[in-house]
Amino acid sequence: MALAILLISALLFPAIFSAAISIRPLVLWHGLGDSYASPGMLEFVSMIKNVHPGIFVHSVFIEVELDKDRKAGFYGNVNEQINLVANQLAEIPELRDGFDGIGFSQGGQFLRGYVERYNSPPVHNLLTFGSQHMGISDIPICRPFDLICQAARRATKQAVYSSWAQANLVQAQYFRDPTNLDTYLTTGSFLPSINNEDTLHRNETYSNNLASLNALVLIMFTQDKTVVPKESSWFGSEAVGDLSVSAQQVLRPTYPRSIVPMYLQPLYIEDWIGLRTLDEQGGVIFETCEGEHMQISECWEDFVREWTGEIVQSHLYQLGL
Ligand SMILES: *[C@@H]1O[C@H](CO)[C@@H](O)[C@H](O)[C@H]1NC(C)=O
Repeated sequence: MALAILLISALLFPAIFSAAISIRPLVLWHGLGDSYASPGMLEFVSMIKNVHPGIFVHSVFIEVELDKDRKAGFYGNVNEQINLVANQLAEIPELRDGFDGIGFSQGGQFLRGYVERYNSPPVHNLLTFGSQHMGISDIPICRPFDLICQAARRATKQAVYSSWAQANLVQAQYFRDPTNLDTYLTTGSFLPSINNEDTLHRNETYSNNLASLNALVLIMFTQDKTVVPKESSWFGSEAVGDLSVSAQQVLRPTYPRSIVPMYLQPLYIEDWIGLRTLDEQGGVIFETCEGEHMQISECWEDFVREWTGEIVQSHLYQLGL
């Protein structure tokens, strides 16, 4: 009630209250096949603003032109893209005191990369929808007639661990082949790094930064058939089996995959990235959305309500209201 009065007053007398109230801003990183200002993203931003009136929302972009930005989700160097986004975020005055982040699909592991490597300004809560935190062991199938996607998929499948792919094909940079982990570890340019999987070069900044989050909210789509395995969104991965890749392809989808859950990952047990520390502080939250990959329409609102849009400065008591 007091909050409602305060908010109404703030709307009526903005000059008095502008310094008194501030809603934690929000940064979005869109998913593959989307752009920062597609009709879907714009609609999502406006729905968030209905839930949290007055919230500042920034949708990160790699390219200003929408079709180029969409293409940058397939082609580019992820490390460079995250660096570019870190510079972009650092220049936005509204984000100065920190923000919450929402990453859609691959945007989720990219925002996590931002937290681990930069985190300036710092992220408070990070929500990831259907993200590939332990990579993918198959390249998602494209929508019919999506030629950019199909060309990228073909190229990625052909030579996923070539140095060219690891610098130019986005999905190759989080492809984690359970039957070929050694190659992944030695040639992977992005995921092995942010997962601190290189025993010799673990970066403590990454784990300190991740553990400094207030909450990491990991949202999995229950019927996700795009992300293989879908449990990657909960830091699960396919167990390293002794089946050859071709045998797995023949047996799929009848062959029961065995998934290593987060709690059994060495990454978690040995706390390579601060995930265990964060979890022991109560900061790792597992959630689900019913449905196929990125079907968020029925589930986004509760998460946005609970984990974003917090009032961070309020002089409620000083004003005696
Ligand atoms: C660890 O990561 C930080 C942040 O990205 C970077 O500045 C630093 O150079 C890295 N340290 C090593 C040893 O690579």
